[in-house]
Amino acid sequence: MSTQSDRGTIEQAFKGKAPGSAHLYDRARAVLAGGVTHDTRIHAPFPIMVQRALGARKWDVDGNEYIDYTMGHGALILGHSHPVQVQAVREQIELGTHYGASHELEIRWAEQIKRMVPSIEKLRFHSSGTEATHMAMRLARSYTGRDRIIKFEGHFHGWHDYATVAVEEPYDVPMSSGVPVATRSTVTALPADLDRVREELVRGDVAAVIVEPSGPSWGAVPFPTDFVEGLRRLTTEHDTVLILDEVVTGFRMSPGGFQVRAGITPELTTMAKIVAGGLPGAAVGGRAEIMDRLEKRDDPAWDRGERIAHPGTYNANPISAAAGAAVLEHIADGRVHERINELGSQLRHGLQAVFDRHDIGAVVYGETSYWHVSLTGQPAKSGWPGAGGAALKRALLNEGVHLISNGGFVSDSHEEADIEQTTIAFDVALTAVVGEGYLAG
Ligand SMILES: Cc1ncc(COP(=O)(O)O)c(C=O)c1O
Repeated sequence: MSTQSDRGTIEQAFKGKAPGSAHLYDRARAVLAGGVTHDTRIHAPFPIMVQRALGARKWDVDGNEYIDYTMGHGALILGHSHPVQVQAVREQIELGTHYGASHELEIRWAEQIKRMVPSIEKLRFHSSGTEATHMAMRLARSYTGRDRIIKFEGHFHGWHDYATVAVEEPYDVPMSSGVPVATRSTVTALPADLDRVREELVRGDVAAVIVEPSGPSWGAVPFPTDFVEGLRRLTTEHDTVLILDEVVTGFRMSPGGFQVRAGITPELTTMAKIVAGGLPGAAVGGRAEIMDRLEKRDDPAWDRGERIAHPGTYNANPISAAAGAAVLEHIADGRVHERINELGSQLRHGLQAVFDRHDIGAVVYGETSYWHVSLTGQPAKSGWPGAGGAALKRALLNEGVHLISNGGFVSDSHEEADIEQTTIAFDVALTAVVGEGYLAG
């Protein structure tokens, strides 16, 4: 086996192993804005270009194999092209991809979600988590007759206008330009401080509090104990809708997501990723009284004046419905969760031991089947900072590990051998990174 130094510097090794990706990136830059189709895929000097994926692995166009922890940005709880998903999609594709009509699969899919997440009395399907959080805010505003939404600093709820507030530091600069000040002014971003939440709620003009329930960026900065319970208490006291954004935590932290694990019942829940079995799809669901704002009543005053409109070409498309229903049915008994939580724990412990050996002061953390690494020792939301962080990412790709931001997701296709191989890869990558003068302990 060649060592890192046989292959030159980390960057030389990366360029040497992936010329096909470099070539495709040249083509991408000519046609795709910024050369990518998702901000998190930006990677210098070029991103890997993946050709196929199966189970816990994926392969780039140069034939390099990677243990994958991006897992479809958290959507693939069973792994890539799992037989349960493939069979559901294969059977459905022969039966039609879009009926432009109602169908039984969307009912089966919704019934399964309801069984797994008891706070959901009724729901509606969308195509992305962004649409789901947008609709949840609209439902809360329509139901309460109030405009203001409270969110928390650093929390990500997609990319619609209201979600651009206070995502990255400095929090007074929105995540994106192009969002009117008037729109942003209806969203108040707070630190994770219950006293501050109370101060805002007593004003009586807040429609909803929306929160990533395990902390910003799927728990990259875990919440103080009881924070979400405190939110539940305060929102109830002030007749405000509590929206749990379970786009990542839903169906992952337990079959019923964060809320069933924590015993907290929100008015509304937003879901995406796992909910659609790894295909495009999302949902918002919750109390019938709120969800019924979407109902037509043959009453012109209600239908034109009160009701929430909700079109959407791909809502509950049969392919996503088939995959979503099949995958949720498969994971409902929690056995998959038991297994991947155990693997997640093994990975976190194994990686912490590696970082400790290199005396880098990093901390590895997370819950259930997700994990994060902070190179500074303090839980941090954004990916790994600076040249050292970038070098570690590249070195890990050199060693055949692909992660997302500062961590990743374990799936049911991962095996103990993958976990072991990952810790060895981190060990080799860290040796190379420290050898180049970064992250010295
Ligand atoms: C907590 C949370 N909410 C909403 C979204 C937006 O979902 P989508 O990317 O499907 O629009 C994401 C995406 O990662 C998310 O992590």
